[in-house]
Amino acid sequence: MYSRFSELYDLLTFDIDYQKYASNILGFIEKENISKPNMLEIGCGTGNLTQELAKEGYSILAFDNSMDMLNVAFPKLIDLENVNVVMQDMYKFAYLNYEFDVIISLLDVINYILDPDKIEKLFKNIYSGLREGGLFIFDINSEDKLLNVLGNNTYIYERENVFYTWENTLDDDLVYFDLNFFVKEDGLYERFKETQVERYYSIEFIKSLLEKVGFVQIEFIDEDTAMPVNEKTQRILFKAKK
Ligand SMILES: C[S@@+](CC[C@H](N)C(=O)[O-])C[C@H]1O[C@@H](n2cnc3c(N)ncnc32)[C@H](O)[C@@H]1O
Repeated sequence: MYSRFSELYDLLTFDIDYQKYASNILGFIEKENISKPNMLEIGCGTGNLTQELAKEGYSILAFDNSMDMLNVAFPKLIDLENVNVVMQDMYKFAYLNYEFDVIISLLDVINYILDPDKIEKLFKNIYSGLREGGLFIFDINSEDKLLNVLGNNTYIYERENVFYTWENTLDDDLVYFDLNFFVKEDGLYERFKETQVERYYSIEFIKSLLEKVGFVQIEFIDEDTAMPVNEKTQRILFKAKK
């Protein structure tokens, strides 16, 4: 997962409005009157959101378990004094001996967790990694996006020198993405494949886990419109308070 795809990630996420996603996060932080939070970002990927949030002057520790993704992130973040980046698995971050004001995790990171018990364990770690009153802000893909839009559908795209097919297979709550990339270089196409799997989790399930772990004041919005979630919402942004 996220090996060679990492090289293309930024090209293929052209439709993600990281500025907007960062401003949603800022909105939650400002509402709580948290000034200059110390922030942990889980699954920072190629650092696009990190870059946006770093502009606010926040101190950010960002991690990901894919060195290929981090290799794309490093050049963007290396000169930012308020950002530190490490390679780390999200299931083990509780060993960090620190309490953050805000912990964030955006763009499907939670949907990549296929075992619901592991989400509970992660949420517990996040809870203990936050100071009292701290916020956990994260998103999940919606039911419509995973089960209908992706579902069993195939998509074909062409962006600059990359032609790729995105074949999805739905198996109960799991969606398998079979990606075939054809990258043009010197008049020839190089082909490589990558398979990823995401799991659908309902809002009710996520909310009940957060409550079980001890989070309060749980809110969720449509991440793209910052409006209430409806049946066409594609990404759901959650905020939960310790
Ligand atoms: C869709 S990308 C999102 C990246 C980034 N958050 C963004 O906004 O573009 C999902 C990220 O989760 C990371 N990830 C998946 N499992 C992980 C784990 N166990 N520990 C840390 N990161 C993980 C992947 O490597 C990938 O970079």
